[in-house]
Amino acid sequence: MTHRLHGVGGGLYGNTSIHRSQLQSCKCQRADSVSGIASEAGNGTWFVDNAKKRNPINGVMDTPNVLEFQDVQELKPEMEGSISNGAVETARDTFVKVRVDSIEDEAWDLLRESMVYYCGSPIGTIAAKDPTSSNVLNYDQVFIRDFIPSGIAFLLKGEYDIVRNFILHTLQLQSWEKTMDCHSPGQGLMPASFKVRTVPLDGDDSATEEVLDPDFGEAAIGRVAPVDSGLWWIILLRAYGKCSGDLSVQERIDVQTGIKMILRLCLADGFDMFPTLLVTDGSCMIDRRMGIHGHPLEIQALFYSALLCAREMLAPEDGSADLIRALNNRLVALSFHIREYYWIDMKKLNEIYRYKTEEYSYDAVNKFNIYPDQISPWLVEWMPNKGGYLIGNLQPAHMDFRFFSLGNLWSIISSLATMDQSHAILDLVEAKWGDLVADMPLKICYPALEGQEWQIITGSDPKNTPWSYHNAGSWPTLLWQLTVACIKMDRPQIAAKAVEIAERRIARDKWPEYYDTKKARFIGKQACLFQTWSIAGYLVAKLLLSDPTAAKILITEEDSELVNAFSCMISANPRRKRGRKSSTQTFIV
Ligand code: GLC
Repeated sequence: MTHRLHGVGGGLYGNTSIHRSQLQSCKCQRADSVSGIASEAGNGTWFVDNAKKRNPINGVMDTPNVLEFQDVQELKPEMEGSISNGAVETARDTFVKVRVDSIEDEAWDLLRESMVYYCGSPIGTIAAKDPTSSNVLNYDQVFIRDFIPSGIAFLLKGEYDIVRNFILHTLQLQSWEKTMDCHSPGQGLMPASFKVRTVPLDGDDSATEEVLDPDFGEAAIGRVAPVDSGLWWIILLRAYGKCSGDLSVQERIDVQTGIKMILRLCLADGFDMFPTLLVTDGSCMIDRRMGIHGHPLEIQALFYSALLCAREMLAPEDGSADLIRALNNRLVALSFHIREYYWIDMKKLNEIYRYKTEEYSYDAVNKFNIYPDQISPWLVEWMPNKGGYLIGNLQPAHMDFRFFSLGNLWSIISSLATMDQSHAILDLVEAKWGDLVADMPLKICYPALEGQEWQIITGSDPKNTPWSYHNAGSWPTLLWQLTVACIKMDRPQIAAKAVEIAERRIARDKWPEYYDTKKARFIGKQACLFQTWSIAGYLVAKLLLSDPTAAKILITEEDSELVNAFSCMISANPRRKRGRKSSTQTFIV
């Protein structure tokens, strides 16, 4: 096992072999120690009109926001009968504001209620706190990916402790001895989730201790390893430093070691020919079989983002020169690969449609031997004239043309997509609003797998039936990523419009985990209520729209060195007649 240092709250202990009670337990006495619409069209104009109005009390923008459409209708005749038109407007605005403020207040109360404590300190938020459900499965755990919007909401509110604790405690779980059927996964893996358990203290019946019990996938449904956890951890660590100004956490030796362990795991050589990360199905937000094994876009976007964030935080030292070189080379190769081969729009689609196949040469145009027949009829209809997107996955002879929201949004946020591509993705979101946003933002992917495809790809998964859950269900948590992407591209009104739509029903529906049907009209079949990341995602979207500059803690801009290296690669691209010689060229940024 790698020798490394650990410690939380300043205490450091070196260890080569780590035991549960030694590392992640604290002794204590018994467990108890511890909508409607402002403008009916919902066009987001309130955001633009109110961009500068701030509420002096809580620092949050005073936005005449949305109220339930039904509420407005009920209110209207009453008001019209008794008061003038101008007064009706004012009364309605006040009503709207009160209603929206109360949604936000409720969201904050629920978010605080979801906080999980370890030895008296907050360390995360539970995935869902649904009082009506008896079948909690693992929704009573703190999920790494689910905590990200919670953590960002707390950071934006100036509450840094919970995020600091989360970062340091999950870091300690990274080196847990993890095995499944005698096999141990690579060092550096972060758990998907963890739970605080209260267990009897050895040798003392009257006392208990709290332990952190992580799940690396060895108990998870389908036994999937969470590749995204470590990437999100790095992204949150940078956001913590940027927002709080406290760089001491990222400078700690154990934290630096943790970053490097994640990087080494991701950058390790394998059999792969591509710079993208090769992962199994279900290794990210979509954590069950949905045919995304291989090189799914979501993982690539998070990988790219985490590489950039890590580069910013790694302390220069002799021992890590090789790692930094590998990281830089990977950044260039990864952005080139995704921008060139994952991108589709009308022009590219037409190119694929006319592809020749079976080209054996260094300068093949159809490098991955894609058969044009793969272009499904839905895509021919769906692709707008203006706009485009990054496809879900690329493998030999296979392009997964489904649109995956998180991967596309995070490609904008991380600058994995070019500026033009980023605008085009948002153009597509606007053009396909009725499919992607409809009655509740945002579809996790589009379109759904149906019929035999659903049977084969999902394994006839009854939770992933067409237009439900991961199979093109709608997930309100994605609002925050949409908001960051829109702010980065200076098009916040798109996100504002989506927030207005969510506000019409999200609180009334009790903050569901996801919605079903093509137009997101139903609360999801098996959706948890009071899902924390639905609540936190909404709050982050609101906080960022009221102070767009705060989004910079999540955004990474492309740096000029990368752009230069990238343009070298473009000019050396075989599609532009690269000879064999230039393929040996290396780009060390
Ligand atoms: C579901 C989601 C996953 C999430 C978990 C907890 O399994 O697919 O992304 O982390 O629920 O909310």
